[in-house]
Parts: sequence; structure tokens; C-alpha cells
Amino acid sequence: MTIATLDTATIGQIERDGQLPLYAKRDIALVRGEGAYLFDADGRRYLDAMSNYGVAVLGHADPDYVAALADQLATLTTGHQSFGNDARAALLLALREIAPPGLARAFLSNSGAEAVEAALKFARLATGRAKVVALRRAYHGRTLGALAATADPKYRAPFEPLGLAVTHVPFDDADALTAAVDGETAAVILEPIQGEAGVHPASDAFLRSAREVTSARGALLIADEIQTGFRTGAPFAIGRAGVTPDILCTAKALANGFPIGLTLTSEAVGGSVPPGAHGSTFGGNPLACRAALATLTALRERDLYARAAALGAEIVERVSALGRPKVRQVRGRGLMIGIELKERVTPTLRGLQERGVLALPAGNLTLRLLPPLIWEQAQVDELLAALGDVLS
Ligand SMILES: Cc1ncc(COP(=O)(O)O)c(C=O)c1O
Repeated sequence: MTIATLDTATIGQIERDGQLPLYAKRDIALVRGEGAYLFDADGRRYLDAMSNYGVAVLGHADPDYVAALADQLATLTTGHQSFGNDARAALLLALREIAPPGLARAFLSNSGAEAVEAALKFARLATGRAKVVALRRAYHGRTLGALAATADPKYRAPFEPLGLAVTHVPFDDADALTAAVDGETAAVILEPIQGEAGVHPASDAFLRSAREVTSARGALLIADEIQTGFRTGAPFAIGRAGVTPDILCTAKALANGFPIGLTLTSEAVGGSVPPGAHGSTFGGNPLACRAALATLTALRERDLYARAAALGAEIVERVSALGRPKVRQVRGRGLMIGIELKERVTPTLRGLQERGVLALPAGNLTLRLLPPLIWEQAQVDELLAALGDVLS
């Protein structure tokens, strides 16, 4: 039996029988992608308004990306970081162009949670302190350290105690943050726009006060740009506030779907990490580095940051202009958009899926859009037509 003979129902059954029941499965099996569209095992086409949780910024089967990976596959796929590699060196040079000022040291891993895990360890090494301050409703991943920084009891409660002292303070509340950071705080970790919580941008004033209080008290500022990275109209979202963190984590979109995690640090933080303090077998492998390099090259050469900003502003404006009573608020930046409803989001998501559009929830009430940045006017119009229908 080849995989091509499996239909949606069969795939669903095999996955339900063979996997841990960790994911609430949607009843379609995606088997192919082309540009802004995904196809299920029964040949049905869907407009991709989610990029696999914010990953596929170049859409699917992008010819330049495919060619770069094919070339690297035929050249060298695996290569431990104890050896040098040309794809890795090229990626490091490309990262210099987009990294916030002074964040010149990179640790390469394989996922967002790993990027956060590394950041928390590096903060501890750099400060000699153990406490962390995070924000309510924060999402930083599911490994034990990242989970300790994640706020939602739904994710945390079964695993308490988590072994890392994390205080969660109200989102966007500078006074609460200032009160929580003291001489034992290693770091404040925050998402410049909270994603899983419902697409909530932190105010520039809050981000600046987070920078001020951490600097004043000898703590570090960690920006989790795992979801915001590359899709808010700039490589990273925190720069808009004029704030430079000490550590920045990103993943998801960086390699357009090839697993990767990146933790960028200042020279001071990087200089306090001794050899052997952290590592990863797969981290920084040539294939992942080449995938990231191809992604960054396409984002720059095709001017996709500007496109994300323009299309995102248009979508926010047009969804607001629909004037649907069901909608409480439309917010976001670039192609990271939340449409908060006055009712649970699941029926709306299902309605979109029936109309051939795949989007995401964020919390119970918010419809989240994280489309590929290669969308054109036709895809925006298609989305708006479907939304106009399901929100009425
Ligand atoms: C802000 C943020 N941090 C961390 C993570 C964890 O990333 P991963 O699922 O790659 O471990 C996510 C994933 O959704 C995220 O949105």
C-alpha cells in the first residue's frame, strides 16, 4: 500500500488508533500544498489562512525553497555543531541583517519550546539568579521550563510542581511588572503580541517599561517572538517599541516548515555561557539552516514584510467594515490577526472549513488568522467572502 491510496477517513482512523489522544483532530487529512492552498486526501482544496500555526510564510511547495532544500538534501543533511558547515555560516550571516541591535550570538535548536528552554538556561547562567517573571495568559511552549513560564492552568496543572519559580503578572500592566521584578529576578519573558491568548498586542509603553525595569534591576528581558516573528510587517515585533531585548526566541516561520528554533543573545549573555552548558544533536543541522536561509532570502527579496503589513491592515479594516454584531473586536499587526467574537469560535471555524477556508482558534472566543505572506488580493477577497457569510 502506498500512502497515496489512503483517503481522509482511513487516515483519520489510523491516527486515532495509533497516536496518543493529545490533539483535538479536525476531520480532514491534509496531504498536499500549493502556494496559498492546501489539499486533503479526497482532493478538496482549502485556502490556507493559518500556515500550520504560523509556520508556512512562503506558502506551500515554493519553487525556490524546494530547490534549495533539494540541493542541500543531495549535498549534506546532518552535521553536528562541533563541526563547521557552510549552510550554517551563511545563515548566521543572514541573521546579522535582521537581528535586533547587539543580538549577535545564536543558539540553533529544533522548535519554539527549545528556543525558550535555552533562553531560560542562558538567563540563569548570565545573572546567577533563578526567578522568572512572565505574563498572565502567556504561552511559551510545553517542555517543563517553557511550561513553567506558560500561564494557562489547562497546560500547567497536571504537571505541577514545575521546578522553576515563575511569577505571572497581568498583561500590559507596567506597575504590576515593576512590582514583581526584584534583585532575584533572572528574567522577564514576554510575547510582544500574545498569540495563543487571542492575539493581544502589548502596548509600546509596556514594552519600554519592561526594558527599563529589567535593566534597572539587573534582570534580562527575553522576547518570545516564536509566533510574531516574520509576519507583523518586520522580522520582529518588539523593534516597533524601540526596545531591544537581551535574548530573543523565534522558531515557526523561520524555516517555513522545516523544524528549527533560534535563541539570539547579546554579547554579554552569550559570553556567560560556557562550552557544554547546552546543546542539541539536530540543532543547526545543514538542512534546517539552508531552509531558514532560503526563507529569509525570499522574505527579503520578495518584500514580504511590507506585503504582510499592507494585507494585514486591509483585512482588519475590511472585517471591521463588515459590521457584524457577532464580532467584538478585530485586532493584530501584519498577518497576525485576531477576530474576537461574542460567542464561542468553534462554529465559525467549522463554517469557514465548510466554505474551504482553514483558520485557527485562539482561546475560546477568538478566530486567529496567520496566513502565508505570499497571499495576494485574490486570497484576501476569498477570505472576506467566506467571513462575510459565516459571521452573518
Ligand atoms: C509564543 C510562543 N512561544 C512558544 C511556542 C512553542 O513553540 P513550539 O510549539 O515550536 O514548541 C509557541 C507555539 O505556539 C508560541 O506561540
